[in-house]
Amino acid sequence: MITVLGSINMDLVTVTRKDPSIGETVLGDQFSTIPGGKGANQAVAAAKLGADVQMIGRIGDDLFGQEYLNHFMKLGISTENVEPVTDEKTGIASITVYEGDNKIIVVPGANNFLTPEVVDDHKEDIIKSDWLLLQLEIPLESVEKSLEIAYKNGVKVILNPAPFHKIPKDWIKMATYLTPNQYEAAQLLDLYKKDEKLLNNLKEKLVITKGSAGVVIFEGNKEQSIPALKVEAVDTTGAGDTFNGALAVGLSEGKSLREACQFAARAAAISVTKLGAQLGMPNRTELDDQLDA
Ligand code: RIB
Repeated sequence: MITVLGSINMDLVTVTRKDPSIGETVLGDQFSTIPGGKGANQAVAAAKLGADVQMIGRIGDDLFGQEYLNHFMKLGISTENVEPVTDEKTGIASITVYEGDNKIIVVPGANNFLTPEVVDDHKEDIIKSDWLLLQLEIPLESVEKSLEIAYKNGVKVILNPAPFHKIPKDWIKMATYLTPNQYEAAQLLDLYKKDEKLLNNLKEKLVITKGSAGVVIFEGNKEQSIPALKVEAVDTTGAGDTFNGALAVGLSEGKSLREACQFAARAAAISVTKLGAQLGMPNRTELDDQLDA
């Protein structure tokens, strides 16, 4: 079982051909309300590829929250641990898509109520998992608590350090893999550049996503590149999340790190060919067809 403990947002997506400057008004081309949030995106990516997925998260007691619960249920994701917070709003992300790339403002809302105490209440749900996926869109103390529970109980963890925060040294020891994008990776490596031992330990666990430039892993401290599939990007939102969800699926199926990265990089490439974080995520047949092509 793959458990995702993390954020659930409704994405308010505007597509525009002109990116407004401060104080300027422009007319956009399209507006959509699409399920998102780094945690939920990773859960959906894994579920679409056929994994048994459990989500631990918080929504508001509003329409977006209800919509999200139905969405998870349709995808076969266990929602037993997705609870509404009274008088709170479901997290939202205001996203502007401009020339295939995006700008995002997140208002966490109910995600802030996924506290360390709540994590502790879900201890048994974490312990029964094979893989735990974590990101940094919920309170950092809760990420730390989850890592501690997983580490003490032999649950493997993929820590996606996004959005970037200065993460404590201990987290590197407790995570099985860390999956920053190239910008987050540069900041992480810079943070620990003076501690050679820690830096080497970090490198062994690093899986760096570089968008259309593929993925970088370190084998015996030597940088190895895994190329990305060439696609026409419509919207890159959620590509990293698709990668993380698919990586967990690949690893839980016993693939080597390199094979799981190849599998996940293909899923991520397919995901950017449609608008919205989750709409382009491939199901297993779509991904397998791609692998055969
Ligand atoms: O990683 C993409 C996600 O970041 C979006 O779905 C948005 O909700 C923000 O959390």
